[in-house]
Amino acid sequence: MGEPAAAKVTIDPAFTVGPVRTRTFGAFVEHLGRCVYTGIFEPEHPKADEDGFRTDVLELTRELGVSTVRYPGGNFVSGYRWEDGVGPVEQRPERLDLAWHSMDPNLVGVDEFAKWSAKAGVEPMMAVNLGTRGTQEALDLLEYCNIDGGTAFSKQRQANGAENGYGIKMWCLGNEMDGPWQIGHKNALEYGRLAADTARGMRMIDPDLELVACGSSAPTMATFGEWERVVLTETYELVDLISAHQYFEDFGDLQEHLSAGHRMQSFIADIVSHIDHVKSVKKSSKQVNISFDEWNVWHMSRAESKAPTGKDWPVAPVLLEDRYTVADAVVVGDLLITLLRNTDRVHSASLAQLVNVIAPIMTEPGGRAWKQTTFHPFALMSRHSAGTVLQLAVESPRLSGGNTADFPALSAVATFDAEAGEAVVFAVNRSATDALALDAAIAGLGDVSVVEALTYTNKDPYWQATADDSTSVLPADNVSVKVDGGRLTAALPAVSWSMIRLAVK
Ligand code: AHR
Repeated sequence: MGEPAAAKVTIDPAFTVGPVRTRTFGAFVEHLGRCVYTGIFEPEHPKADEDGFRTDVLELTRELGVSTVRYPGGNFVSGYRWEDGVGPVEQRPERLDLAWHSMDPNLVGVDEFAKWSAKAGVEPMMAVNLGTRGTQEALDLLEYCNIDGGTAFSKQRQANGAENGYGIKMWCLGNEMDGPWQIGHKNALEYGRLAADTARGMRMIDPDLELVACGSSAPTMATFGEWERVVLTETYELVDLISAHQYFEDFGDLQEHLSAGHRMQSFIADIVSHIDHVKSVKKSSKQVNISFDEWNVWHMSRAESKAPTGKDWPVAPVLLEDRYTVADAVVVGDLLITLLRNTDRVHSASLAQLVNVIAPIMTEPGGRAWKQTTFHPFALMSRHSAGTVLQLAVESPRLSGGNTADFPALSAVATFDAEAGEAVVFAVNRSATDALALDAAIAGLGDVSVVEALTYTNKDPYWQATADDSTSVLPADNVSVKVDGGRLTAALPAVSWSMIRLAVK
């Protein structure tokens, strides 16, 4: 066997992309399957607290280091009446959830979610229903949530136990409104006008809200591009962000699966060009950015994603409970690297979703909570990314896989926290077969030493964590990492994600 191919990187704190944004490390809780019921909320569980929240899930959420949590959907929100979920629980109606062919008992609504968010230490990010409902209901919900008192809806919230408004800053104007699967889906002009009207009204209540217009549902949509142009033409001065959603599936070609980060990178570049086209045409000085508020690996075509049918409308069915492999976790790590690398334009992101539904955290009803493989890169990146994202110069061998040709084997990003005196390099070797030798010029960082070097990989990249064994494959010390004479070298195994923390004097 010859020497592994080398990837050369230059890391210098003089070249920056932008700040590390805690909002890059957001997640998503939808009324879908067992995300809410028997996920975050299960009053009968032995570890439930006085509000019915599972404390084991709260602990794992904190350990994951989640910043914002988007709620309550997703497709669910497009048929949701928020009023059903407030007030005395025994009076709340059971409703059909058409999006997921389920029954929602409305035991959890906006007040419970706000309470859960405070306990989890996360920032709630709310979505309004622009499918079956419109501007007025969005304004009512905003009044209920954010006005401190003295109005009908704020008094109702106070009567329901929350004296002060929740001060929710981030609001999504609907969800995936170009998707034919979405209740009340619209064409770009219909949606753009409704989103503009709703945004205008919401800003009259609070001009400082951060509003997210729906981008197209996926890069593969026929609407993608033209949708962004029309929607932003209607809303540009009224919104701050446009959403991006993208999921990646392993169809059996590992090398293609490992190109996911590269595909996300080109999606981001395309969205940026659509945003900036509208900005330029409007001669606007305002900069709209991206809320990447749904991203993950999702094995969408597998049985786990099929909703019930017919007369069966179950409460909290098992849905979208994908089991993740080590390779999936490497992809998730790469996607997070990609989001961070684009911190100048991606200002917020949400891993979809948090618990049970395509999630890093799994639960058994009445039983254990455990970590999937994808938990690890997310938790380590949210904990250790700090300060500024650096712009790296990368020279990497190229790969091709399936329909994706000519992408770099190395995906990397570095953050630099001058105050704490720490630089962190995150790196993925996207090769399905070959190790990669990382050779980084780090003289610009000055005098450094290695604090910690961890790599997540496994001989069998298809290993999955289970409730019985979620710990036999964990990120482990990478003893190959060396710093010498202004160079950092490391062996990155095939299909691996790594984190190298450096103390900078
Ligand atoms: O996250 C699962 C679903 O994916 C969401 O409900 C929807 O917005 C997207 O299509």
